[in-house]
Amino acid sequence: MVELSVDLGFLKLKNPVIAASGTFGYGLEFRPFYDLNLLGGFVVKGLYFNPREGNNPPRLVETSSGLINSIGLQGIGVEAFCRDVLPELTNLRVAIIVNVCGQDEDEYARVAEYLSQPKGIAALELNISCPNVREEGRCPAQNPESTYRIIEKVKKVSSLPVITKLSPNVTDITEVALAAEQAGSQALSLINTLLAMAVDLETRKPRLGNVLGGLSGPAIKPVALRMVFQVCRLVKIPVIGIGGIFTAEDAMEFMMAGASAVQVGTANFVDPDACPKIIKGIESWAEKHNIKKISEIIGCLEV
Ligand SMILES: Cc1cc2nc3c(=O)[nH]c(=O)nc-3n(C[C@H](O)[C@H](O)[C@H](O)COP(=O)(O)O)c2cc1C
Repeated sequence: MVELSVDLGFLKLKNPVIAASGTFGYGLEFRPFYDLNLLGGFVVKGLYFNPREGNNPPRLVETSSGLINSIGLQGIGVEAFCRDVLPELTNLRVAIIVNVCGQDEDEYARVAEYLSQPKGIAALELNISCPNVREEGRCPAQNPESTYRIIEKVKKVSSLPVITKLSPNVTDITEVALAAEQAGSQALSLINTLLAMAVDLETRKPRLGNVLGGLSGPAIKPVALRMVFQVCRLVKIPVIGIGGIFTAEDAMEFMMAGASAVQVGTANFVDPDACPKIIKGIESWAEKHNIKKISEIIGCLEV
């Protein structure tokens, strides 16, 4: 038997696999496929204070090894989430993480404050890194100062643990990671999608209504892994690795590079059972390598 649990300090997960925001609905959508209690946790779709329609279609394009999306953070808003969805989730024995969005710095705090009242939320993940909502893919995570300010504001109004989700669309991700740590973020999750586009030769138009979108899936794994490695070398808070994780082996690479847990995104669209399969695969890999506790491999990479 392998001990699969990992400890983020503020949150113990029964295994290191978390379903990523925007690829797992509000959790309920995946109930027909498997028992959600199998997961380490899941992150619900990003929420603003009010409901939001998102960007104009087309909003998804497949590429040779990934997906470009420009959903634009469509969502039901925090009130509907707390009223209609959260009560359906709270009897689960799994970490429920809510992805928090904001048009401006104050909205992040407003959403976080609202989400701090009901019971059942394990942590907030601050989505300061979506490339589909502001012009030219800009987002607060491209700037250490705005990253710091948003976390500071959220921490003033909420006692829930804060995970800050970083953007790969920067020159040096470690600057932003350090700012987030200094502001009091309890963990980091990285990466969000890479700014991308696709062209339709027949219409001579961009293939996304929003022109630009965010690339996810296998294509981004090496970039994500490099960034997770760079950040883990510098910060003391736990890091959750995200980007192109489709198999148990992918997940183990991120953990060896220093990630305490991983999130699985696009893989959920290809195979709704991706997360339980990855969890099983991690267990088999550990058994085969005579590893008793999966946490032993975190950061074991020899450089
Ligand atoms: C369709 C789609 C919607 C997404 N929506 C969100 C979101 O609401 N909030 C967020 O923080 N990340 C969102 N993401 C980013 C993912 O959570 C993840 O960071 C990214 O896709 C990279 O992981 P992957 O390669 O495993 O998909 C979305 C990704 C996709 C593909």
